Amino acid sequence: MNDKKCSAVIVAAGVGNRMQSDIPKQFMKLCGRPVLYYSVKAFDDTDFINEIVVVVSEAYLDYCRDEILSKYGFKHEIKITVGGDTRARSVYNGLKSCSSDTDYVFIHDAARPFVSEKILKDGLIEVMKHNAVIAALPSTDTIRIVDSVGNVTSTPDRRLVWRMQTPQIFNYEMLIGAYDNIVNDGFKGITDDGMVWEAAGNPPLHLYKGGEYNIKITTSEDMAMAFEMMTGGRIH
Ligand code: CTP
Ligand code: MG
Repeated sequence: MNDKKCSAVIVAAGVGNRMQSDIPKQFMKLCGRPVLYYSVKAFDDTDFINEIVVVVSEAYLDYCRDEILSKYGFKHEIKITVGGDTRARSVYNGLKSCSSDTDYVFIHDAARPFVSEKILKDGLIEVMKHNAVIAALPSTDTIRIVDSVGNVTSTPDRRLVWRMQTPQIFNYEMLIGAYDNIVNDGFKGITDDGMVWEAAGNPPLHLYKGGEYNIKITTSEDMAMAFEMMTGGRIH
């Protein structure tokens, strides 16, 4: 599809506090296979991703390698690297493990197992035009901003509000430069890669349409929904 070198960084080093389960949600089973398997498989199935880096916590390094990444016969050789105490730190470690000749990097949450081939392909087309793009969806709900006690302080125009997903895809050199720029501040308040990009004073991020099924599994309700999506045939 192109001669650009693309890497995927799949972040799987979180503890999953909101799921309240014994093991981190990315290792929980969905129809017999761990959530992380599906996220890696989506990238493994493309013909334009050159390398895949999976970021895990030290405690799950061996488990992840032996029970998931070596077990399912992925086509790509998968690099594993250790994450950190925030998502941004985990991404940063993943970025540093990518080959230095990477042109574009796809950063993806392991907790989004249903990312489709179309979302990945569209992302490649868009990043070649814009250098920094995020799969996202226009909000169908009205969003309200509240203060610390729940009183509403403002209501943005719903037509201008989009919900961020992953992949978040960037020009590799520019993104790693942006991360280098703020690493000493400890990534405070950073919840996605787009914020790191913006903090470095780069040109605006560009959003493109992700998908309704590209959910992030966060709570046990999400896990139940993911199961229904798979068994109901909406996800293959
Ligand atoms: N992540 C990571 N390293 C961290 C924190 C998060 O690699 N220190 C990853 C998670 O594994 C997940 C993705 O970033 O795939 C999105 O984060 P989130 O959904 O918030 O997962 P957790 O932080 O694990 O969950 P929670 O916030 O409920 O604790
Ligand atoms: Mg989190």
